[in-house]
Amino acid sequence: MSAPISDPNLRILEKNATQIASKAYAPYSKFRVGASILCKSGRIYSGCNVENASYGLCNCAERTAIFSAIAAGETGIDAVVVYTPTQAATSPCGACRQVINEFGPDALVISICDSTDRIETHLSELLPRAFGPKDLGH
Ligand code: THU
Repeated sequence: MSAPISDPNLRILEKNATQIASKAYAPYSKFRVGASILCKSGRIYSGCNVENASYGLCNCAERTAIFSAIAAGETGIDAVVVYTPTQAATSPCGACRQVINEFGPDALVISICDSTDRIETHLSELLPRAFGPKDLGH
């Protein structure tokens, strides 16, 4: 498992994930999601879901945040916080679990919502026996 995340960083991740949900482009689902990730560099990146009239091309908040981080030169993820506008916390979808695994197989994954409900787990629990870089010799 990766090193514990500091309380100040956790608070920033939670605030950023919640705030960036308001930037979501979600005209079809109306389900505004935000995600914020802590990278191994110590830097934090955030993203929202971006939908498309061709529904299959919708991009989740988690992947928006991760792709921004990678484009900025990051190489690893220590923590992911995802906010959904729900009363019960929800876990990342399967596609996002696979993308998190690529850069953060040991990442802490926290889900928050509009109530005090929360899920704190690790990617390895959400996607056990994942297919990943190591299976291709990386
Ligand atoms: N969505 C996310 O962005 N992250 C999640 O963890 C769950 C689902 C988005 C995808 C789509 O735009 C909308 O929420 C409804 O599924």
